[in-house]
Amino acid sequence: MSNVTVVDHPLIQHKLTIMRNKETSTAGFRRLLREIAHLLCYEVTRDLELEQATIETPIQEMQAPTLKGKKLVFASILRAGNGLLEGMLDLVPAARVAHIGIYRDHETLQPVEYYFKAPSSLDDRLIIVVDPMLATANSAIAAVDRLKRRGANNLRFLCLLAAPEGVEKFTAAHPDVPVFTAAIDDHLNEKGYIVPGLGDAGDRMYGTK
Ligand code: URA
Repeated sequence: MSNVTVVDHPLIQHKLTIMRNKETSTAGFRRLLREIAHLLCYEVTRDLELEQATIETPIQEMQAPTLKGKKLVFASILRAGNGLLEGMLDLVPAARVAHIGIYRDHETLQPVEYYFKAPSSLDDRLIIVVDPMLATANSAIAAVDRLKRRGANNLRFLCLLAAPEGVEKFTAAHPDVPVFTAAIDDHLNEKGYIVPGLGDAGDRMYGTK
């Protein structure tokens, strides 16, 4: 899969294993997701362009690299996306944030949008859409569709775990959007859960059921 990067750093894999374990606490799950978000953020922003700025150190003036272009946008698919979002904002605190409320109807597994709020200008910004689980890909496809309708033209999708079915469907729908994930699991089950997965990311993050 050409447009998919599996970020298989040993620290990410180790932390992901603890997250998968059903005995891991809510607090532990949330903390680990934030930590993995730091490591994934590092990778998904690796090729950002830099420009030189003139600054003064306490010793002398110098030309120093700084991020080029408009501020990044992180687009979180609610609610589980917020777990990744927090870690991303730790690393890029000046990023703008979009929130997209989409839930999957448990019967049809189809996405239903209930909230959308994004910065007014999305064109010419890099937009990183975050959701821990790329399962059926219905929500991810709908979120990217929505952002493109609002002018987004430079997007990436970042998740923690993906199902092969989700990756295939997403990349077919949005071949221009690179996908970054920490792992691609075995398959999706009939209820739309990733197997072996980690369960419902939102429930595990917030202690709901
Ligand atoms: N969403 C989740 O939280 N978990 C899955 O396994 C699939 C979708």
